[in-house]
Amino acid sequence: MAWDSGRLHFGGDYNPDQWPRAVWAEDRRLMREAGVSLASVGIFSWAHLEPEAGRYDFGWLDEVLDGLAETGVGVDLATATASPPAWLTTAHPEALPVDREGRRRWPGARQAYCPSSTAWRERGLALVEQLATRYADHPALAMWHVGNEYGCHTSRCYCDVCAARFRLWLAERYGDVQGVNHAWGTAFWSQRYSSIDEVLPPRITPDGAWANPTQQLDYRRFASDLLLDAFVAERDVLHRVSPGVPVTTNFMVMTRFNQLDYWAWAREMDVVSNDYYPDFADPLTHVEAALSADVVRGLADGDPWLLMETSPSAVNWQPRNPAKRPGQLRRDALQQVAHGADGFNVFQVRASVAGAEKFHSGLIPHAGTDTRLWREVVELGGLLGQLGEVAGSRVEASVAFVWDWQAWWGVELDSHPSVDVTYPDRARAFHRALWDLGVAVDVVAPGAPLDAYSLVVVPTLYLVDDDAAPVLDAYVRDGGHAVVTYFSGIVDADDHVRPGGYPGAFRETLGIVVEEFAPLLAGERVTLDDGGSADVWSEDLRLAGAEAVVSYVDGPVPGRAAVTRHDLGQGVAWYVATRTDVETTARLMARMVAEAGVVPVAAATPGVEVQRRRKGDTSWLFVLNHTDDAVSVPATGTDIVTGVPVSGSVTLPAGGVAVVREGGGA
Ligand code: GLA
Ligand code: ZN
Repeated sequence: MAWDSGRLHFGGDYNPDQWPRAVWAEDRRLMREAGVSLASVGIFSWAHLEPEAGRYDFGWLDEVLDGLAETGVGVDLATATASPPAWLTTAHPEALPVDREGRRRWPGARQAYCPSSTAWRERGLALVEQLATRYADHPALAMWHVGNEYGCHTSRCYCDVCAARFRLWLAERYGDVQGVNHAWGTAFWSQRYSSIDEVLPPRITPDGAWANPTQQLDYRRFASDLLLDAFVAERDVLHRVSPGVPVTTNFMVMTRFNQLDYWAWAREMDVVSNDYYPDFADPLTHVEAALSADVVRGLADGDPWLLMETSPSAVNWQPRNPAKRPGQLRRDALQQVAHGADGFNVFQVRASVAGAEKFHSGLIPHAGTDTRLWREVVELGGLLGQLGEVAGSRVEASVAFVWDWQAWWGVELDSHPSVDVTYPDRARAFHRALWDLGVAVDVVAPGAPLDAYSLVVVPTLYLVDDDAAPVLDAYVRDGGHAVVTYFSGIVDADDHVRPGGYPGAFRETLGIVVEEFAPLLAGERVTLDDGGSADVWSEDLRLAGAEAVVSYVDGPVPGRAAVTRHDLGQGVAWYVATRTDVETTARLMARMVAEAGVVPVAAATPGVEVQRRRKGDTSWLFVLNHTDDAVSVPATGTDIVTGVPVSGSVTLPAGGVAVVREGGGA
């Protein structure tokens, strides 16, 4: 069931329990002024809702929800289990998480729980039952918000209870100890187990001796499943007691967070929601934001999703935390909508004055409402209200990226050929090249059907299981165009090398054999014969059906192919064996796009993002000017931001945005 909000939501986390009642009325007045339609309430309120074990205090929450209902603000009501109160961890110290070194982590911040802890789970589920029973029919209730950012602070606990659960998980995955021994390759270093009872989490090992890599990988899989199990337990209570109300939890799809396997998580959501925060030190953070949103839309299977959190202006957790520039908030919001979000919420409605996040911006800043930020907030709320017709439409894309958290975990394990090979790097580079060309991108899981796409990009898919690789091969033979980047297809699901020449999973599709890796040293660059250069990686690659498109002029393997192209069946398979520079990547991508017949969303203008959403016969062209200059982009229809007809082209000032309902000329 697709989530249909019927509008573009606007709002944020709302924490009235941090404020005296006198402030609440003003909060409501300001939320109305800003056009807030959705507030996430109670995410960290466990200690307020249950001040001591089994004694609940819902009076204040009744008042908050009644007030929001009167104000016309829907509530994304939290289950409040994200941070256990002090009474719980005092009575049950075993509910606190243990790190790799065996140290119990202390409370005093947040999310200090062991996901296996019976005390945390039971007390949490009792609270959820109470909340669901009390508020199932409340007129403000729009959605349930389980936990918060699972895995953000406690992604893996290494305690004995988790160890026991890990052994059960292994027994289920592998059947018996022989299965574990095989998958983990325990013939190596005398690691053989005679019983699953001997298996432990990958706790800290002697200096310089790496823990078994498949043990590490399986612990990440287990930890993601364990947290998902905790989510599902709460969700099931909500489905039972409060049927029909959608349930979500806020993901953290960003290229700097990888603790959970969101493909598995997404299947359990009624609504996919995401937290995305810019990296203020990264001049290309807005391009990464587009990739993040494309991944989230992939998780939602193309259906509308919700941007649950971002910062209205500064955050407080980067080393240096600048404020957003004038116009940036609106552009950030419309960017998420352009990529399929049907709502844009922030952390948080009113900036805190106490606690660790008091220097994090809110919709209502410390300085009050006579501020540029507040005026931009009010303007944005009005604009999102005005763009409601876009809700429920879907993004169109003819290029797919294959994305996988398990491959990410695998590629960044220790004891590899080069520490410089990281997962999101090539995905970001190739995505950026497409972004620059004005080409829209979908994101799919390994093994997902590819026939709807003209071009498929497979960045750094180090680990690929036996089912997924043939899907790519068949896609190419049937006429698809694909590009695979280096250190893909190297190992199977158990992290065992696929022998016979790299990249084992894709060798035949690509028409190449890699005899040895030739990673480059820190700072080393190689020259390419197309005039470009590359760093980080090269390979001793032999052609086996493919042709060389670009070759190395110098470096460890001069004369060898750096980029290859293979005509296979009706299609084409490209391989990029090195970390090409920005210009080379752009040239390659332009050629691949042209050969594959991919049509850009609109003519490319440097620094200008274009994206199209469609519903039935109606389409909307989003144009976002990320540059400091005015630009013109071809478009015809009506700009529903300004209400002005557009014929032939739309002109945007520096930082400006347009949403053109297309067609007709008016
Ligand atoms: C995350 C959390 C919020 C808050 C913000 C601050 O998104 O979910 O509770 O900590 O970060 O940026
Ligand atoms: Zn534990």
